[in-house]
Amino acid sequence: MTTPIVPIASTTATPNRQHNFSAGPAALPTAVLLKAQAEMLDWHGQGVSIMEISHRSKQYIAVAEQAEKNLRTLMQIPDNYRVLFLQGGATLQFSAIPLNFLASNDSNTVKTADYLTTGAWSGKAIKEAKRYAALGLGKVNEVASSKADGFTSVPPQSEWQLTDGASYFHYCPNETIHGVQIFEPPVVDAPLIADMSSCMLSEPIDVSKFGMIYAGAQKNIGPAGLVVAIIRDDLIGQAGEWCPALLDYRNQVAKESMLNTPATYSWYLTGLVLEWLVEQGGLEAMAKINRQKAALLYKTIDDSGFYHNAVDPQYRSIMNVPFTLADSTLDATFLAEATQAGLLHLKGHRDVGGMRASIYNAVSLESVQVLCAFMRDFAKKNA
Ligand SMILES: Cc1ncc(COP(=O)(O)O)c(C=O)c1O
Repeated sequence: MTTPIVPIASTTATPNRQHNFSAGPAALPTAVLLKAQAEMLDWHGQGVSIMEISHRSKQYIAVAEQAEKNLRTLMQIPDNYRVLFLQGGATLQFSAIPLNFLASNDSNTVKTADYLTTGAWSGKAIKEAKRYAALGLGKVNEVASSKADGFTSVPPQSEWQLTDGASYFHYCPNETIHGVQIFEPPVVDAPLIADMSSCMLSEPIDVSKFGMIYAGAQKNIGPAGLVVAIIRDDLIGQAGEWCPALLDYRNQVAKESMLNTPATYSWYLTGLVLEWLVEQGGLEAMAKINRQKAALLYKTIDDSGFYHNAVDPQYRSIMNVPFTLADSTLDATFLAEATQAGLLHLKGHRDVGGMRASIYNAVSLESVQVLCAFMRDFAKKNA
């Protein structure tokens, strides 16, 4: 029997815990950190920490299995999908995906992969895939890009140049830097592959609509060091013989993500986050709070006449909210005063400038309320 994770409603319930709006690595639930702290030196009466035992021990296997079980329950993952807990971040998946699904063993077959570009991350994914295309290992087609509008919207599907018989269609449902979110999975003929690094677990999704979902853990899932991949069975096993063993999904499935030593502590902590999510009422409950938090923050921005969010309202992210101040010379003062008020890591990404509030699952409604009150106050003083 494991002790349940006691939910702590507020991040301020623990002395000196600040409101953390970091984009990633990002806030973790305080209750999870307290549990990890309590178990640090003596995990489940074993006299050692979970970090100090073999990943092949029956104790660790139980941790790994429980994490997968909770993820399957939370996301209602159908039985014909494999769940992998890998390393190398989402970035290594940018390579693994074309290596598994595009580059063919058979030199007479040239496959094509479709990519939609709606921000920095989908841009990096296609760039990586093109490296293989340049070697003649398949073709990469950008179906559309919103670069011309500064990645503030999503090109309408009627304008996409889709490939007949594409091996897969890759997109990023939530662009962490630009704050652009595609809420409905596109309906295309090819298997959908989605980089959900900054939106997985923020709301329920229908996994059966996807060929593959992957996400770096360090935003909404757990600490850095882990990437979760959910792959439909029939897609596994296409990698060429020259595919590095660690990147071939067939090998990772066969060895249950333990082809080499996995990131055991990140995996364990992710397991605690998943347990916490189950205790919070699952993804429906999280989605309700997440939508409330986002609505509050966007309303504060829109009502202010002082802050501005440039994203087409129908695509505004519920996880990452970039905004600018009417006068950018006030940026440094805003950040300094925010920090003083216990509102941390609001500086926007260098590509976009301004501010960004990342409001993942572990960021409470109270934290967003405190941020909105601070923003209103700051605007009044500086307008
Ligand atoms: C949407 C998205 N994809 C990919 C990445 C890259 O993830 P990693 O640093 O884990 O490789 C990030 C990181 O911020 C991201 O937000």
